[in-house]
Amino acid sequence: MSGFPHRHLLGMESLTAAEITTILDLGERFLEINERPIKKVPTLRGKTVINLFLEPSTRTRTSFEIAAKRLSADSVNISGSASSTVKGETLLDTARNLDAMAPDVVVVRHAQAGAAEMLAARLKAGVVNAGDGAHEHPTQALLDCSTIRAHKGRIDGLDVVICGDIRHSRVARSAIWALTKLGARVRIAAPRTLLAPGLDEMGSGAAGNVSVHDRLEPALEGADVVMMLRIQKERIGGALFPNTREYARYFGLSQRRLALAKPDAIVMHPGPLNRGIEISPEVADGSHAVILDQVARGVAIRMAVLYLLAGGEAAASAE
Ligand code: CP
Repeated sequence: MSGFPHRHLLGMESLTAAEITTILDLGERFLEINERPIKKVPTLRGKTVINLFLEPSTRTRTSFEIAAKRLSADSVNISGSASSTVKGETLLDTARNLDAMAPDVVVVRHAQAGAAEMLAARLKAGVVNAGDGAHEHPTQALLDCSTIRAHKGRIDGLDVVICGDIRHSRVARSAIWALTKLGARVRIAAPRTLLAPGLDEMGSGAAGNVSVHDRLEPALEGADVVMMLRIQKERIGGALFPNTREYARYFGLSQRRLALAKPDAIVMHPGPLNRGIEISPEVADGSHAVILDQVARGVAIRMAVLYLLAGGEAAASAE
């Protein structure tokens, strides 16, 4: 399809603003299918999508599967515990064997940064990065941008707070690339031990469009969007903060803290939530939260990504 010349989706760093907008616009068109009584179109009939998830997932894996099915592609799910990786087979050998079955797209989640890129260089199928270690999670950033654009009418010129375990967060990294390419200013907030070096040099566009704060309150002042992230216990090796109660006290999003943002600010979270740690239940379930809309838009965005990588346009024009 013109406007998206890639075989793989590996990260937001390598996409242009125009390419991101192409995916967001296509996602808007697919949203309508998800609201029909019969949620299925023949666009990817005859195509095959393999979801190879070697780390746990609820939202990403399920929404890729639903996205493939709603476009009439055949989809197969493989989890770490049910694959021969538990018998010692390498990721590359597993993926090469799956590739020999001629899928059109392999969606991969893996604990190692660079896993999807490594496979993209070696497989015939298109590869989608569904999260690689602490590196990137591009479809999460796309669904986040889709949600912000829907609720705010634009992304350009907005002030977006991203608060939490930035150091271990592929969600933060992809969001910073995507949001700054689309003209937002990003304010990162975290305890110093959960920040990463070079964050203020990340981002695209105008200099100074990423600012770093070691307290949440100054970051929240006048913000349009507040994105809270989970403490990633599975990636935190040692003690990087005293305890979760202390973390919640200084970096948890309460109603009182949210009042520092703009009155119409939206609250986002990629999930899974740690209620009472990074976000209070009142805020998570409150009127500012758009967390379940993020999930709904995730299906449409993944339909758009599969359509672009599996040759949906060619399939549609062949009918
Ligand atoms: N946001 C996200 O990636 O959620 P899952 O881990 O459930 O896929």
